[in-house]
Amino acid sequence: MGSGKIIIAIDGYSSTGKSSFAKLVAKGLGYIYADSGALYRAITYFAYNNGFIDDRGAIDEEPLKKLLKIIKISFRNDRGGNSRTFLNGDDIEAGIRTSQVSGLVSKIAELGFVREHVNAILKQMAIDKGIVMDGRDIGTAVFPNAELKIFMTATPEVRAQRRFLELQAKGSKDTYEKVLEDLKKRDYIDEHREIDPLRRAKDAIELDNTFMTMEEEIEWLNKILLPNFNLEVELPKQ
Ligand code: DC
Repeated sequence: MGSGKIIIAIDGYSSTGKSSFAKLVAKGLGYIYADSGALYRAITYFAYNNGFIDDRGAIDEEPLKKLLKIIKISFRNDRGGNSRTFLNGDDIEAGIRTSQVSGLVSKIAELGFVREHVNAILKQMAIDKGIVMDGRDIGTAVFPNAELKIFMTATPEVRAQRRFLELQAKGSKDTYEKVLEDLKKRDYIDEHREIDPLRRAKDAIELDNTFMTMEEEIEWLNKILLPNFNLEVELPKQ
């Protein structure tokens, strides 16, 4: 007999709001939230700070391969209930969100041994199910048997606008055009990577949130969760 808990895999393009949606769903169901991109970012942060990847993205693979086996990446929740990423006990959450790491992470995420390592950690996290995980290949490569798979999309222009506003709030001077161009480049790399590229699993349900609010996204999800899994996410209180 299962516990009734399921694995929810959420994949999709960058800046589709995957992590905000996944966090809200996990909270509403009392599930764990797992940010697979944060693991790729943590490894990139580690590689960069140890000189295993340079500013142009050239990688010294051998030492990285060896040291990956002994470093410890973990997640802990802070008081606000947000997940923070730790490397060997140090909080690196701010470090993994810098533009430096964002610019290099897709190179690190192309390496087969890195993907294997990340996938082993993700599988361990989901051993008791009851988890919402977001990424690019969760429904295709990490949990092909996940009970529910969602593939998130929105137009590049709307995603770039969301990202542009986020960056502006952080004091960035990047123009909307530059943000749109970077986003399209990232989409291309994610979709054309040799190992486990971003693509919609055949059995994933598409959520195009170009014109949707978060409340509408949760309502949309409940229409799937309730009849199929007897689960319901409560809408956040205003
Ligand atoms: O979602 P994010 O921007 O934090 O992801 C960071 C990088 O990691 C991005 O280049 C895509 C990659 N990634 C991946 O290849 N596979 C995943 N499951 C999650 C992220």
